[in-house]
Amino acid sequence: MLKYPDNLRNEKLRTWVADMAALCKPDRVVWCNGSEKEYDEMCQLLVEGGTFTKLNETLRPNSYLALSDPSDVARVEDRTFICSRHKGDAGPTNNWVEPEQMKSTLMGLFDGCMRGRTMYVIPFCMGPYGSPISQLGVELTDSPYVVVNMRIMTRMGSKVLDLLGEVGEFVPCLHSVGAPLAPGQKDVAWPCNKEVKYIVHFPEERSIWSYGSGYGGNALLGKKCLALRIASVMARDEGWLAEHMLILGVEAPDGEKTYVAAAFPSACGKTNFAMLIPPPAFDGWKVTTVGDDIAWIKPDEDGKLRAINPEAGYFGVAPGTSDKTNPNAMATCRANTIFTNVARTPEGDVWWEGMTKVPPPELIDWQGKPWTPDSGRKAAHPNARFTAPAYQNPVIDPDWENPAGVPIEALIFGGRRSNVVPLVMQAFNWNYGVYLAATMGSETTAAAVGQVGQVRRDPFAMLPFCGYHVADYFNHWLQFGRNISEPPRIFGVNWFRTDKDGKFLWPGFGENMRVLKWIVGRATGKASAVEGPLGRMPRYEDLDWTGMENFTREDFNDLMSIDRMQWIQELLSHDDLFIRLYDRIPKELIFLRELIVSGLWRSPEVWELAPEKAQKAPNGAA
Ligand code: GTP
Ligand code: SPV
Ligand code: MN
Repeated sequence: MLKYPDNLRNEKLRTWVADMAALCKPDRVVWCNGSEKEYDEMCQLLVEGGTFTKLNETLRPNSYLALSDPSDVARVEDRTFICSRHKGDAGPTNNWVEPEQMKSTLMGLFDGCMRGRTMYVIPFCMGPYGSPISQLGVELTDSPYVVVNMRIMTRMGSKVLDLLGEVGEFVPCLHSVGAPLAPGQKDVAWPCNKEVKYIVHFPEERSIWSYGSGYGGNALLGKKCLALRIASVMARDEGWLAEHMLILGVEAPDGEKTYVAAAFPSACGKTNFAMLIPPPAFDGWKVTTVGDDIAWIKPDEDGKLRAINPEAGYFGVAPGTSDKTNPNAMATCRANTIFTNVARTPEGDVWWEGMTKVPPPELIDWQGKPWTPDSGRKAAHPNARFTAPAYQNPVIDPDWENPAGVPIEALIFGGRRSNVVPLVMQAFNWNYGVYLAATMGSETTAAAVGQVGQVRRDPFAMLPFCGYHVADYFNHWLQFGRNISEPPRIFGVNWFRTDKDGKFLWPGFGENMRVLKWIVGRATGKASAVEGPLGRMPRYEDLDWTGMENFTREDFNDLMSIDRMQWIQELLSHDDLFIRLYDRIPKELIFLRELIVSGLWRSPEVWELAPEKAQKAPNGAA
């Protein structure tokens, strides 16, 4: 007989938990209340089971390290499925299996999959309590690691049952590591299924089934599965946007506040940008964080866009994070943090590549093996992460939990491109911006299993996260723009252009403030630009260079140049995407492509910003 919490009044939830318990056959079912006591006890359990190592209480208070199985280190895109009723609705960029067939596979896999384990019931809220934009979900999992991560990443626990009431809707999320225990069988530190993994979404039913992985977006189902793949479908049906975007506020010295949202692919700088510290010369400027990974954006009654961050914590990339590159992230994971797949120092603190210039002389690496700087391998996994509460961020925005959201004035899209794509440009209009975002390319990173460093089209940074046909998604964006009176301005950025020797041409990080200030200036009608073949662009004198006088006009113009032959190659790869989406691609995008081709043909072989202040750019492609 199952025991239920006193405040559970939702019949649908009661039945679902009972049915899933009957299917998965756990030894026991535990309802999580979300308290600190419960969190501490679960962490203790994880220490006793060998999953967690408690870190040094002085150096890293109340924090733990987990080392995953080497086969379970990132999202598995080739094992992720969108099982809509019609194959055409998943589109060519998603894996699809007929829903009944997938259900029958899953029923087989989940039957008895929790034997010897505990099933935890995690009621959670994505978004601030009381926000009309928020959504409720319930995750059932046999992983205590997932429970403690979900407590940081979402608003989790008993209060959600009150919000659900008798008839409230929730997204059912079933998760298992897929590693049942026979009677007496000893558990391993990181249970998972090395052979079989399925991350499955049923968009019409709005449900999620995840099997075989315990890591990140595969297992913390509120994040990519609910807040992006399922939410993108809800957003299409209901006229809003669920995006892979950070949200930040920019405060000018006169106190004027502007919010922007920015989409960069996985491990391409969202967390860094969201917590940016302006260079010292930008006295009085401040950047504050609303969110670092996901934005839900809805028009209010006046047609103004309002955005919330559905999450309550950061699952941030550790490698490359340092007191130099992102001091706010370092402060955020100072305490009360779960680290996964980073290295451990002999003193019981953490370390990863890029944290300090000189690595410690000895470490325990992410696979639990002794490591020295000359051992010829990475100490931390390139996709090692920290899970830390958002409220620990020193620059958290005062309105980050405002149920009404924050007003959005600009949208930024950026990929990781070592060449071809300039530092910054502004789309001529909304549709043009949709084109830029839809055709965005980016070099792949360690955030997903597979080859790293390959350029692929990653439309809107949503390629792995769009829960329906991506061409329908483009169409939704076009339609969305028609329905708002004053749509935000749209920009493209690329922090990652390199020189012949592979060195970054742009210093990035805090210096990105110079670009951000121009973007905010454009969005609020204060900054000037010239027309380039691909969009409006700042001249050298349009950016604030205070404190960075060694960066010359020539350096900047190099970063902004547009090579016609390279862009013809680029446009051919746009075509590659468009032809794959041919049956549903909005015709506007095809026409825009023609316009861009003609703009490129009317500009010089290598388009460069004019060296002189007075000179006007060669053409107006819009
Ligand atoms: P997900 O959490 O995977 O969605 O990614 P994210 O976009 O939040 O990634 P994050 O901000 O953690 O990006 C991490 C990587 O981007 C690290 O390798 C950083 O060093 C690098 N990075 C971030 N900002 C910059 C920048 O301005 N310039 C350069 N060159 N690298 C940057
Ligand atoms: C991403 O890959 O975009 C992430 C990390 O934010 S994960 O939650 O693992 O998907
Ligand atoms: Mn992400």
